[in-house]
Amino acid sequence: MDAQAIEDMLAIAVAAGAEGRLDDAEAAFRAVLVMKPDHDEALFGLGLNLLIARRFQEAVEPLTWAAHAPNAEPVRRQCLAHALFLTGDFSRAADTFAAANTVEALPEGARVTWARAAAYNALDHGDAQAALDLYAKVAGPLAEDLETIARQGFGILVAFNRLDAARTLGAWLATRNPADIIRTHELRVLTDPSLDRAPPAYVEALFDDFAERFDRQLVEMLDYRTPALLADLIASRQTRFKRILDLGCGTGLAAPSLQRLGAHVTGVDLSSAMLAKAAERGGYDHLVRAEAVAFLESHAGRFDLILAADVLIYFGDLAPLFAAAAQALAPGGLLAFSTELGETGWRLLPTARYSHGDDYVRETAASGFRIVGREDVVLRREATGVTHGRLYVLEKL
Ligand SMILES: C[S@@+](CC[C@H](N)C(=O)[O-])C[C@H]1O[C@@H](n2cnc3c(N)ncnc32)[C@H](O)[C@@H]1O
Repeated sequence: MDAQAIEDMLAIAVAAGAEGRLDDAEAAFRAVLVMKPDHDEALFGLGLNLLIARRFQEAVEPLTWAAHAPNAEPVRRQCLAHALFLTGDFSRAADTFAAANTVEALPEGARVTWARAAAYNALDHGDAQAALDLYAKVAGPLAEDLETIARQGFGILVAFNRLDAARTLGAWLATRNPADIIRTHELRVLTDPSLDRAPPAYVEALFDDFAERFDRQLVEMLDYRTPALLADLIASRQTRFKRILDLGCGTGLAAPSLQRLGAHVTGVDLSSAMLAKAAERGGYDHLVRAEAVAFLESHAGRFDLILAADVLIYFGDLAPLFAAAAQALAPGGLLAFSTELGETGWRLLPTARYSHGDDYVRETAASGFRIVGREDVVLRREATGVTHGRLYVLEKL
């Protein structure tokens, strides 16, 4: 084994990592490990690199080896604990943070993540108050308000499919605040999968609350690009429309693409906070606060194109929406939308969104439309991977 070759390759890996060239860094760390499989600096570097690349599950193994090397710096154990937390392994994450803390007191960020991991793990025993008390004890003076921790924890547990723990936390939240429409609905979803659409009051409250963070979270953190992808699919069929409706327009992310397609653009949404953001962005001739199906039913024959990006995820049964859209379109008009990809029929997911199978979309659309465009896409990143979706363009019969 050539020690100099190993050192040179390690230097290349570290330099690439520092410059943000993650693929080059990974290749170089792996090249070091081919020469010396137990090279703990390379294992740690590879693990960190994978963590930065959000490949959390893959990061766990090299970080485990790196953390258990003789005389390993405490930071390695902390990184391993973070990686375990980000894969939803709260039990091992809590144990690893605790072990790291015995060697060297954890920095603030690590301590609050440890507190969350300990609490989420303790929820498996079914006592939400005891789990939150544990959070407060571990976090000490850094502890945040327990309701905030419980609200965020609920979403995280659902994302990792820890549904019993999520129900425990959801019940604690609902008891403390029975008037909270968002939490009450999200808990109901975990017990009653027969709900055939999200209640408008829930959608309104959810997006009024989300509006301020929506663009940053969806576009910058989750790589959400559905409006532009849908516009491209529409443009491959037809490039000019006189009257466009952006149904469930949200903050108006579709506006720039829609302006290129048409002369007159109307945006409709249930959430006034989302509509205020769309007004700030500009690009709409009219913005209307209304429920989607009710709006369509009262605007017969008024649009040439209706776009609904990431909106059908709030409807299980699509029949009323398709019927109303067919009514609101002029002859030959297009309805373009995205769905979260399901296997068959429609399904209410623990996330409180709906997925739709292709069979169901085809059958339900058949009475008023024919499918003229279809494309599989990645809708957004999630805690556990990516969410797959399907785009459709339907033409009114
Ligand atoms: C995930 S956001 C997508 C926003 C926008 N279309 C985009 O792609 O950025 C879903 C939007 O649909 C709206 N929405 C959901 N159900 C609705 C309904 N029944 N009527 C009107 N708007 C609805 C929500 O208020 C929210 O602004």
